[in-house]
Amino acid sequence: MDTVTKSPASDVLEAEQAPAKKMYVKTFGCQMNVYDSERMTELMAPQGYSETADIGEADLVILNTCHIREKAVEKVYSDLGRIRQTKDERRSAGKQTVVAVAGCVAQAEGAEIARRAPVVDLVVGPQSYQTLPDLIARAQSTGRSVVETHFPEQDKFSQLPIARTAKTTTAFLTVQEGCDKFCTFCVVPYTRGMEYSRTVSELTREAEKLAEQGVRELTLLGQNVNAYHGEGPDGTPWSLAKLLRRLAQIDGLERLRYTTSHPRDMSDDLIAAHGDEQKLMPFLHLPVQSGADRILAAMNRKHTIAEYRRVIAKIRAARPDLAVSTDFIVGFPGETDDEFAQTLDLVDEIGFAQAFTFKYSPRPGTPAAKLGDQVPEPVKTERLSRLLERMDRQQSAFTASLVGRTLPVLFEKAGRGEGKLVGRSPYMFPVTVEARAGFIGEIAPVRISAAGPASLSGELVV
Ligand code: SAH
Ligand code: SF4
Ligand code: F3S
Repeated sequence: MDTVTKSPASDVLEAEQAPAKKMYVKTFGCQMNVYDSERMTELMAPQGYSETADIGEADLVILNTCHIREKAVEKVYSDLGRIRQTKDERRSAGKQTVVAVAGCVAQAEGAEIARRAPVVDLVVGPQSYQTLPDLIARAQSTGRSVVETHFPEQDKFSQLPIARTAKTTTAFLTVQEGCDKFCTFCVVPYTRGMEYSRTVSELTREAEKLAEQGVRELTLLGQNVNAYHGEGPDGTPWSLAKLLRRLAQIDGLERLRYTTSHPRDMSDDLIAAHGDEQKLMPFLHLPVQSGADRILAAMNRKHTIAEYRRVIAKIRAARPDLAVSTDFIVGFPGETDDEFAQTLDLVDEIGFAQAFTFKYSPRPGTPAAKLGDQVPEPVKTERLSRLLERMDRQQSAFTASLVGRTLPVLFEKAGRGEGKLVGRSPYMFPVTVEARAGFIGEIAPVRISAAGPASLSGELVV
């Protein structure tokens, strides 16, 4: 496709005349993949593509994949098996289908994916999807699979369209990507590359566009978001706290969150922002992974339990109603019963409002996968169920503690049942409320009357 010789006007004409096509996007993994999927959809819109939920009518299928645990990768390959059938059926009906694998499996496995699953026409890593229309055209014209997994010199963000298409009143904004921490269990530094922070002016523009489209709550994303150090308008690196305060000035944006943070990078100015920046929500996801110092050291987490405890105490001093969420890995190589018991103790001590719990999954190329002392699967399973049980109780206690309180709820969408809407509490947990559809996009006080393990319900206070 030769766009270089055309004027912008003829590009527009071409876009208007492009035959209507459908794309089906399935997103695995973390919120950053959700953000990337939205950007890929936006990139394809000028080529005539609109989204469909029916894979059978899709001219383009994108699997935006996750490499974090073995299970996540297996899901991709089993999906590709089914997609082969769909592609064959469509071919029999005289229709072409381009199948693309994007995301972290694409980055980690590259050409191997197309070898293992020949149905795949395109493999594109998380740092190179800005050229998606060209890559698709290349796959179509050559009939051979195309693999693009370079980390380009120029960052992808500067090449993505500024216009965003917000679908709801909440949105994600990637502010930082990649990670230099190299926890010994984790693939992210290999799949997302070195840490990179976007500039404050670029982020302010994108956030303003989203606010103009009705976004009220923005979640800033980064694999290591509190290590953010993007260039400010004054040419100096700005911290996440400074960025948050800048974005808080945008009219219409009422709520800010950020995820995921590393305990080592909870700086004093960020902690202070939790105390005095009203738009910053009182909910923090701060992964700890284990309650035992020896395991944290083997994980190369670069912090101890005492340090984690201190950070939590400081943030709670700044913002007493802060709810803390975390991630745990059970069965890291060499983890003893006693060390696992220390994880259970930490749950009780910190009083997490929520936790994501995982069995350790050895990942190719990571240092921990080569350790000798791998924990047997049944032991991991047993530890996971004990941790889950403890966390379920704690989470239910947290949601129950909100009953009787009046919380500001941001209404997002219709709920199950006539006349019901679902909104978000400051603590993330969804709240079901009887309210007119006109409340969507509004923040209104709700008295919480009942709580389930992961959801709330209540009545509007008017
Ligand atoms: N950047 C974030 C998220 C990393 S992935 C962070 O630092 O927290 C999200 C979670 O997946 C991690 O916090 C960890 O708990 C889990 N995870 C990562 N690698 C894993 C592995 N090999 N096995 C099991 N869980 C893993
Ligand atoms: Fe992975 Fe550790 Fe980086 Fe998080 S901080 S992305 S767990 S290497
Ligand atoms: Fe998965 Fe990549 Fe996110 S491995 S968790 S999709 S950064």
